[in-house]
This record gives sequence, C-alpha cells and structure tokens, in this order.
Amino acid sequence: MKKTTSLLFLLTFLVVAVVLTACAGEQGPPGPAGPAGPAGPAGPAGEVADMSSLTCTECHNDTAIITGKKIPWENSVHGSGAGLAYAGGRDGCAACHSGASFSKMVAEGLTPGTWEGDIADVTHQDCRTCHQIHTTYTGADWALETVAPVEYYAVEGVTYDGGAGNLCANCHQPRRTAGEPDADGNIEVNSTHWGPHLGPQSAVLIGAVGAGIEGNPGSHFSLIEDTCVACHLGENDNHTFTPTVSACQTCHTDLENFDLNGFQTEVAAKLAELEEALLTAGLLIVEDEEVHPVVGFYPAAQAQALWNYLTIVDDGSLGVHNPGYVEQLLDFSLAAFE
Ligand code: HEC
Ligand code: HEC
Ligand code: HEC
Ligand code: HEC
Ligand code: HEC
Ligand code: HEC
Repeated sequence: MKKTTSLLFLLTFLVVAVVLTACAGEQGPPGPAGPAGPAGPAGPAGEVADMSSLTCTECHNDTAIITGKKIPWENSVHGSGAGLAYAGGRDGCAACHSGASFSKMVAEGLTPGTWEGDIADVTHQDCRTCHQIHTTYTGADWALETVAPVEYYAVEGVTYDGGAGNLCANCHQPRRTAGEPDADGNIEVNSTHWGPHLGPQSAVLIGAVGAGIEGNPGSHFSLIEDTCVACHLGENDNHTFTPTVSACQTCHTDLENFDLNGFQTEVAAKLAELEEALLTAGLLIVEDEEVHPVVGFYPAAQAQALWNYLTIVDDGSLGVHNPGYVEQLLDFSLAAFE
C-alpha cells in the first residue's frame, strides 16, 4: 500500500507538472521598480575651480570697483538727466544725448555734427559710453572710449586737445557760432534757441566760442593736464562729475570754495547787468519764467552781446573755465549798451 501511495503521488505530480507546463502563457510585463537603495559613502574632496583665468573677475569681483562708481554716476546728470527722454532718440541730438549712439559714432570715426546713424536703444551717458566695457573682457576695458583730439564741427578750424578731457569735449562742444554781420552790419537771431547750446564748456576753456573778440586758451586749459577730468573727477575718479575743491588746491593753496577772490560773484553780477540790458533792448524776453532770445535782425554788437550772454549762462562755471576770457566777453558785451 505504501508503494501504491507513492506511485499515485508521483503520477499526480507528473500530471500537474505537464498541465502547468502546457498552460504557461507569455511572460507578463516587468513589475514596478523596487525602492532606492541606501546612499553610498561620501566621495573624496574635489578641487576648487581656478577662476583666475577668467578675466571677467578683474571687474566682476567682491570689490566695489563697479558698484562704487555706479551710485555716484546714477545720481549725476549723466545717469539721471532729463535731456535723455527729450533728445536721446532724436536725429541730430542722439550722438550726445544717448550713450549707445555716442559709442556707434566713435566707432565710425564721426562727429556729433556728421553722424546720422541708428538711434534705437537709447541709453544714458553710462559706463559703456565713456569706457570700453566688454570689448576685450579684461581690466584693459576701463580705458576711455576715445581721447582723440576733437575737431569742432560748428567752429571751423578749431580743435580741442586737452588730454583725457577730449572725451568730454566730444559732447561738451558748441553746436553753432554767432555768424558774421550782413552787409547792413546786422546779425540774425534766427531761433528762440539761438546760442551755442548748453555744452560750450570746452570752447570756453580755449576761448573759441565768444563773439566779437579774439579769445585765447586760459591757464585752466594749458596748465591742467587732462583738463575737464582733473577738475571734475579729481584724484579719486569721482563719478558725480561735479568739480572738487581739492583739484584747485594744487595751485590755489588757500582756496576754500570755487568763488576764488569773489570772482564768480563778480561774474554773476555782470551777467545780471547784461541780462537787464538785453531785456530792455528787446533781445531777450521772459516766458514761463525762462529767458529766451527774441528772433530778429540786430546791430552786430548787440547780437554778439546776446551770444556772449547765452554762452556764459550755458557754460555754467561762472567764469572759472577761463576767467580772463569771460571777463573780457562781459566787458565787451556790456559796452554795446553804453
Ligand atoms: C572692465 C571691467 C569688466 C570686465 C573685464 C567684464 N565686465 Fe561685465 N560689466 C562691467 C560693467 C561696468 C558692467 C555694467 C554694470 C552696470 O551697469 O551695472 C558689466 C555688466 C555685466 C553684466 C550684466 C549685464 C550687462 O551686460 O549689463 C554681465 C552678465 C557681465 N558684465 C558679464 C561679464 C562677463 C561674462 C565677463 C567676462 C567674459 C565680463 N563681464 C567682463 C565691467 C566688466
Ligand atoms: C556722450 C556725450 C557726453 C560725454 C562723453 C560727456 N558728457 Fe557730460 N553731459 C552730457 C549731456 C548730454 C549732459 C546733460 C544730460 C541731461 O541733462 O540729460 C551732460 C551733463 C554733464 C554735467 C552736468 C551739468 C549740469 O547741468 O549739472 C557735467 C558736470 C558734465 N556733463 C561733465 C562731463 C565731463 C567732465 C565729461 C568727461 C569726463 C563728460 N561730461 C562727458 C553729455 C556728455
Ligand atoms: C554736441 C553734443 C550735443 C548735441 C548734438 C545736442 N546736445 Fe543737448 N546738450 C548737450 C550737453 C553737453 C548738455 C548739457 C550741458 C550742461 O548741462 O551744462 C545738453 C543739454 C541739453 C538740454 C538740457 C537738459 C536738461 O537736463 O535740462 C536739452 C533740453 C537739450 N540738450 C536738447 C537737445 C536737443 C533737442 C538736441 C538736438 C536738436 C541736442 N540737445 C543736441 C550736448 C548736445
Ligand atoms: C562721462 C564719462 C564717464 C562715465 C559715464 C563713467 N566713467 Fe568711469 N571714468 C571716467 C573717466 C574720465 C575716468 C578717469 C580715467 C583717467 O583718468 O584716465 C574714469 C575712471 C573710472 C575707473 C578707474 C579706472 C582705472 O583704470 O582705475 C573706474 C573703475 C570707473 N571709471 C568705473 C566706471 C563705472 C562702473 C561706470 C558706470 C557706472 C563709469 N565708470 C562711468 C569717465 C566716465
Ligand atoms: C579749473 C578746473 C575745471 C576745468 C579744467 C573744467 N571745469 Fe567744468 N567747472 C569747474 C567749476 C569750478 C565749475 C562751477 C561749479 C560750481 O560753481 O558749482 C564748473 C562747471 C561746469 C559745468 C556746469 C555744471 C553745472 O552745475 O551747471 C559743466 C557742464 C562743466 N563744468 C563741464 C566741463 C567740461 C566738459 C570741461 C572740459 C572741457 C570742464 N568742465 C573743465 C571747474 C573746471
Ligand atoms: C594748474 C594750476 C591751477 C589749477 C589746478 C587751478 N587754477 Fe585757477 N588759476 C590758475 C592760474 C595760473 C590763474 C591766473 C591766470 C588766469 O587767470 O588764467 C588762475 C586763475 C583763477 C581765477 C581767477 C582769479 C582772479 O582773481 O582773477 C579763478 C576764479 C580760479 N583760478 C579758480 C580756480 C578753481 C575754482 C579751480 C579748481 C576748480 C582752479 N582755479 C584750479 C591756475 C590753476
């Protein structure tokens, strides 16, 4: 009996095995992935990347080399001036009033008077206007965009050559001249915006913008290396662009403010006297609390007096840029009404 049971068991096993084999279908899809295994051991310490080969870090680093200039620049007229919105995107204005246009003009070797390029993408007079930022991508890009002597476009035959100040003179140059008297001895004032425009400073320094008298470069041009830059940026490359008293003290050791010996006060007084005379004679008029030239033909000496008045007002230094010359211009102009 024992043997029969075993045989039956064996038979049953065989039958089940055959049936199971015969029923086996195709393999099913793979099951879901099992859970992630435990984290492996920490690897060996790596090496810090060598950034010193990246010239970008000559400027983009943890010093204030960029940010220290950015704050004063933003608050300066170059960084915030109202002229940008008005003139930055206009033909004939953009080369001075938009930094991006200025850079294109310099690259093309032209002057604000001849450049008529693309005026899209208006910018302030910013870092890239005055420096070669992102040209070589090295610290050498702090070099100024141009320091070439500036041949004036409005004043024929005159070139400004004042070191690093040449950069400034590109934009801070007169846009017009007073013109010569006609056959009747008159000069035409042809617009209510007559005058050299607001940036005649470089031409005041070299005595090349006034009317009626011959001018000469003053000591503040010939004795000061880099002219504008020496007084307006000073030793610490001050990016407010306002002149510093310390820049004067190298020569005027006792000077405490710009009004040396009351010189600016005296210029302001004579300028007020001249304004009064021009208002009385009808060459100037007050409109919306601003004085404007009155269009017309005037005897040359009077029109020249008006021109000189506008030049000294637009210059904005109350004579400091060229003391001797400005004094002469004022005396000559006042004499026209005596
Ligand atoms: C001569 C100094 C100088 C060097 C070198 C320099 N940069 Fe700049 N970078 C500047 C200045 C200045 C700005 C403008 C800062 C501002 O207006 O806020 C600027 C701005 C930038 C900006 C902001 C975006 C922009 O274009 O305004 C980036 C991104 C940048 N730089 C990347 C780089 C890289 C990448 C390199 C190297 C391949 C480099 N810079 C090298 C001075 C430099
Ligand atoms: C790309 C042309 C351009 C260059 C280059 C330039 N300036 Fe100017 N500057 C201007 C314009 C335009 C204004 C008036 C901006 C406005 O009101 O929107 C101005 C304003 C100023 C003012 C403020 C005047 C005020 O009424 O308060 C000073 C100061 C000045 N510039 C000095 C300089 C000096 C110094 C340099 C050279 C280091 C220089 N500028 C280079 C175009 C330029
Ligand atoms: C040769 C460069 C140059 C050209 C071209 C030029 N300007 Fe200017 N402009 C200046 C400078 C420099 C100043 C700022 C001088 C200052 O404030 O002492 C200025 C100042 C001004 C201001 C006064 C801005 C303010 O903040 O009050 C106005 C407005 C202006 N210009 C309009 C124009 C218009 C409009 C044109 C074109 C028809 C033009 N400019 C063309 C250089 C230029
Ligand atoms: C109106 C022109 C003007 C503008 C705008 C201007 N700079 Fe300058 N910057 C100068 C002049 C001029 C110097 C003095 C260079 C010299 O004496 O040769 C100077 C010097 C510097 C220096 C020292 C360079 C050196 O070689 O040590 C730095 C840094 C600098 N500027 C950064 C900036 C930055 C950042 C901006 C923008 C936020 C800027 N500048 C905008 C004119 C400008
Ligand atoms: C002898 C130093 C000296 C030189 C060089 C010099 N400036 Fe000036 N600048 C001054 C002084 C001082 C003032 C009057 C500042 C005051 O009274 O607050 C002034 C005024 C100005 C103003 C009018 C600022 C305003 O608030 O209206 C502008 C713009 C200007 N200078 C630009 C220039 C330019 C551009 C050059 C070079 C072509 C230059 N300066 C050269 C010292 C100088
Ligand atoms: C490199 C030397 C030098 C520097 C720097 C200098 N000056 Fe002068 N300054 C002179 C000389 C020389 C004279 C006299 C000759 C002349 O009037 O041209 C003079 C004359 C003057 C006058 C006329 C004074 C009078 O009584 O007739 C004034 C005002 C003046 N400077 C103001 C300044 C101011 C403000 C600064 C700084 C923003 C300055 N100077 C920077 C050399 C300098």
